[in-house]
Order: sequence, then C-alpha cells, then structure tokens
Amino acid sequence: MKTLREYIEDAKLRKVAIGHFNISDLAGLKGIFEAAKELNLPIIIGLSEGERDFVGTKNAADMVRNLREQYGYPIFINADHTHSLEKIQEAVNAGFDAVLFDAGKLPFEENIAKTKEVVEWVKKTRPEVLVEAELGYLGTSSTILKEVPEGAAIKLEDLTKPEEAKRFVQETGIDLLAPAVGNIHGMFKDAPNPNLFIERIAELRVAAGVPMVLHGGSGIRDEDFIAAIQNGIAIVHINTEIRLAWRQGMERALSEKPDEVTPYKLLLDPIEAVKKKVAERLKLFNGI
Ligand code: G3H
Ligand code: ZN
Repeated sequence: MKTLREYIEDAKLRKVAIGHFNISDLAGLKGIFEAAKELNLPIIIGLSEGERDFVGTKNAADMVRNLREQYGYPIFINADHTHSLEKIQEAVNAGFDAVLFDAGKLPFEENIAKTKEVVEWVKKTRPEVLVEAELGYLGTSSTILKEVPEGAAIKLEDLTKPEEAKRFVQETGIDLLAPAVGNIHGMFKDAPNPNLFIERIAELRVAAGVPMVLHGGSGIRDEDFIAAIQNGIAIVHINTEIRLAWRQGMERALSEKPDEVTPYKLLLDPIEAVKKKVAERLKLFNGI
C-alpha cells in the first residue's frame, strides 16, 4: 500500500482530492468507510481535539489502523485542529498518520515560531507523520451558521497571501498547508457558503510548493469545489455536512421506529445517511 504522502502526491498530480471526514463515533466511521470502500478511494478520518476527547485518542488511532490492516485498505487518521504541542504529542504517540497544528488565529510571526517547534518535534519522533498548518482564520465551529464567523477571512485583502505562504512553508518545514481562500468552518442551512477565490488558490499552489488542504468544505458550491481541486487543492475537509446527515438519520430512526431501544439498530439510519453524503462528496472530488 502507498503511504499517505504518496496518495496525496498522486491526488495532486491527477487533479483530484482526497476526502477528509470527521467522526465523533463508530457510526460515523462505519458510514465513511463503507462509502469509500464502495468507490475504492483512499480516505482520511479526522478528529479534532473535542472529537478525540470523546472517542479517545488511542481508541481512534487503533480503530483506523485495524481497518487499514484488516482490509488492506488506504484509510488514514489525522489529528485535526490541534492547538498545543502537548496534544500533538499525544496524537503522534497514539499512532496518528497526520496532524494539523492550528495556530491560524495567532499573528504571523508567532504562528511560524509555534508551528516550527511542532514540526521539529514530530520529525524527530515519527518522521513519517505529516504535519499540516493553517495560515489565516476560518472560524472554529463545524456547525450550522447564522452568520459568517467573526474575523473569518472572506474578503480578498484578508486571504492567505502568496508571499506569506511561501515564507511560512520554508521557515516551518510543514508538509501541507491549509490556507484561507474564502472558505469558512460551518455551513448555512438554506444558502451556500461564500464563494472561494480560485485565482488565489492557483497563486498559492505555486508559492507554497506543498499540497494544499481546503478546510470548511461543508456548504461549498459544487462548481467551486471542482475549480479549487483543478487549481491545487489535494485534500478537502468535511465535517458539518456529516454531522447534519447523522442527526437527520437519527431523527428518521426515532420517528420511524418509536419502540426501538437497541442502539445498533437505531444507528443504522445515521450510518446510511453519513454514507450517502460521503459518497456524494467523494464522487465530486474525484470526477466520478
Ligand atoms: O477540519 C474540519 C473541516 O474544516 C470541517 O469544516 O464543518 O465546514 O465542513 P466544515
Ligand atoms: Zn478545519
């Protein structure tokens, strides 16, 4: 099996994107894995600090590694949105394949210094682990939004700048860059998210020189996804859409099976709903 780094390089070359989907439980993991397997596509499972606190950092790493070994399947795990070196260390020591150090809210120089410290520790501990960092602020919550999160970069002047991206990558040594290109965390229920700045993605691709990750995938228009992937995005993160699908699946289960009390029977509906949403996104990201 290829390494995660090789799958990402391959996606970049073929102008497709690997789907990164977050989980909070086993039902989410099952839905995502089933969708990926049916399409035979590599997949990344993400857990933020809060999601890891609930599932257990080691549990999550072991579950994903077991699936990879048992099925000989390219499923990988990322410590999403991690805010301290200590939490990065916990994930790397538990066996995660990739980590996202998120200091995107800090001033530029401070972000560089802290990210560099993380990269140095990871590279001397488990050099195969990929380190991603965020440059620019996208809001923090994978939730249904009523307004654009305060401070999120959705105007041209606030987006990640190519010259900053270049310096950031060179000075920190990161493997993957998550830029602010009009994307925000969370989604509006009845309206699409703001437009992406495709030209900026193309400029950043050249300046950064490392594969780029698009966060805040929920609610983005299909045509924006396609253009973003054509212009340099190699991984797309989706969380809110999965959470919404899980909830709608559970609501359906509760209303259609009012007397059912067996969790694994009720959870069949959220699993199915998550699977459907993931399959839809994976097809789009891979031109299927
Ligand atoms: O890291 C997670 C993603 O960026 C999720 O964003 O909830 O807007 O899909 P989303
Ligand atoms: Zn994110």
